Amino acid sequence: MTKNKKLAELVNSTAQLCRPDRVHWCDGSDEEYRLMLRLMVHGGTAILMDGKLRPNSVFVRSDPADVARVEDQTYICSERQEDSGPTNNWVDPKEIKAVLTKLFTGSMRGRTMYVIPYSMGPTGSPIAKIGVELTDSPYVVANMHIMTRVGTEVLDTLGDNGDFVTGLHSVGAPLPDNSSPDAPWPCNAENKYICHFPETREIWSFGSGYGGNALLGKKCHSLRIASVQARDEGWLAEHMLILKFTSPEGRVSYITGAFPSACGKTNLAMMIPTVPGWKVETIGDDIAWMKFGADGRLYAINPEAGFFGVAPGTSMKSNANAMLTVSENSIFTNCAITPENDVWWEGMTDEEPAELIDWLRRPWHPGCGRNAAHPNARFTTPVRQCPVAAPEWEDPNGVPIDAILFGGRRAGIVPLVTEAFDWQHGTFLGASASSETTSAAAGKVGELRRDPMAMLPFCGYHMGDYLRHWLNIGSNGNEKKLPKIFYVNWFRRNSAGDFLWPGFGENSRVLKWIVERVAGDAEAVDTPIGRLPAPGSLDLGGLDIDPKVMDELLHVDIEGWLEEVPLIAEYFDQFGDRLPEGLRHELSAMEERLRLLRTEA
Ligand code: OXD
Ligand code: MN
Repeated sequence: MTKNKKLAELVNSTAQLCRPDRVHWCDGSDEEYRLMLRLMVHGGTAILMDGKLRPNSVFVRSDPADVARVEDQTYICSERQEDSGPTNNWVDPKEIKAVLTKLFTGSMRGRTMYVIPYSMGPTGSPIAKIGVELTDSPYVVANMHIMTRVGTEVLDTLGDNGDFVTGLHSVGAPLPDNSSPDAPWPCNAENKYICHFPETREIWSFGSGYGGNALLGKKCHSLRIASVQARDEGWLAEHMLILKFTSPEGRVSYITGAFPSACGKTNLAMMIPTVPGWKVETIGDDIAWMKFGADGRLYAINPEAGFFGVAPGTSMKSNANAMLTVSENSIFTNCAITPENDVWWEGMTDEEPAELIDWLRRPWHPGCGRNAAHPNARFTTPVRQCPVAAPEWEDPNGVPIDAILFGGRRAGIVPLVTEAFDWQHGTFLGASASSETTSAAAGKVGELRRDPMAMLPFCGYHMGDYLRHWLNIGSNGNEKKLPKIFYVNWFRRNSAGDFLWPGFGENSRVLKWIVERVAGDAEAVDTPIGRLPAPGSLDLGGLDIDPKVMDELLHVDIEGWLEEVPLIAEYFDQFGDRLPEGLRHELSAMEERLRLLRTEA
């Protein structure tokens, strides 16, 4: 219960609209988490895992029509269409609220409405923000327990007059008479709407119980709504991991990195470096909120308290720290189940188990021609269980950022690492980033698309204005001590389609070069697209890699880049006069440098 007037009114009016049988105020306790697991088990949505094998953990299998974020049904409902921009879906806020009000009417009948007060960021941190999600899904409550800070402490911080982001969520499956409130994975496959109202800081989500569509603290609040708050208040809300990188001498650097969904942010954030003596510790794997401190540096917090990681491909070889993190208190969604009642997914072990129950509840055996786990199967697990969580991962003041990485999956032309000449050039590198699509979102996999700062599905306003905001953040550089910006690509392939770079722990070689550049300790060469490692400056000691492959990884393909110029220009053109002039200038300056080099060659 609360004395906060806005919250009390919201809970009353939503209960009147959605007609739940009861209202449950979440206190964030362990008993409450266990109650949610029991409710899901009784309803048939979840299976409890062996308490000795993985205490307090469950398997959950979703409806096959509800397995990923739905970008086509995600809307930015700003008052004026032009404020949402050409990369977002827009609907008029009044019209969509009328449609949604009808859909929400009676949608929680027979169910409980849970009131989840949550803090994104350590409760009470000057960078943190509070939200309240009202939902009829115990799965959402259990996941929010792991992914955010939930409960009474948040209500106390909110106080009588504090403001918060409103999240209204229903799985949108009204009950036929006498049916169980938790029929296996309720959702509404035909009517999914994930709507954001940036001016009023509201989220209304209907019809999906899955991940980023339903755990409203994550993408909806911490990126789409927070990006608007960040624009208005002069900070950055980004789709970025945060890691701590320590040299053998004990020199600490903090790095953030923006990569599209399912491009290895979790693996990079928990990596075990192959370069002797260096250490990676994790602060976050998906979202960074960055604000200037009094010393002019950008300080980042991870607004989340858990990882909602892509399971397939995660193994003791590829990410031992993630495997150790999921040892208890975890939720496995759309994974396969072994006869021992343990979890399995593609890539977890070298040898496939002889038999499994797949994510669609069917018997599975090797060679049956199907995946056992859905490609977007996920684990939800607390950051505090990560063996390499940095001790300061919850520092309310955040950590000072030394370098920002951008990247994506590109089979061709983009070198292993490129350093930006300055902030504006770095913003251009981020703005022109592109990547092959993955199964994190519904739609085709493997298609190349531009994904500025990995924020294409997550920017809550006009992308042109967002890019201008990035340039504004970098202006008055004299008082501000800005991080250096780099572009990385772990995914370059040869003509046979094989990856050229081994990736994973070997990426520490690139991180080492990056922090040495920040410290002024490594050499680079200027090229038309940015600064690349000078010969010998990338530490390759102990790595068995053909020098020809290294040449290919660091090769600047002049013709390839000249072909890229009109594609970037065409992408930028859609933003019209909302595209900041500085980015057009960077594109033509790059083209000029490329042409000059071609003439000289
Ligand atoms: C995620 C995503 O779940 O980006 O983090 O899809
Ligand atoms: Mn993400």
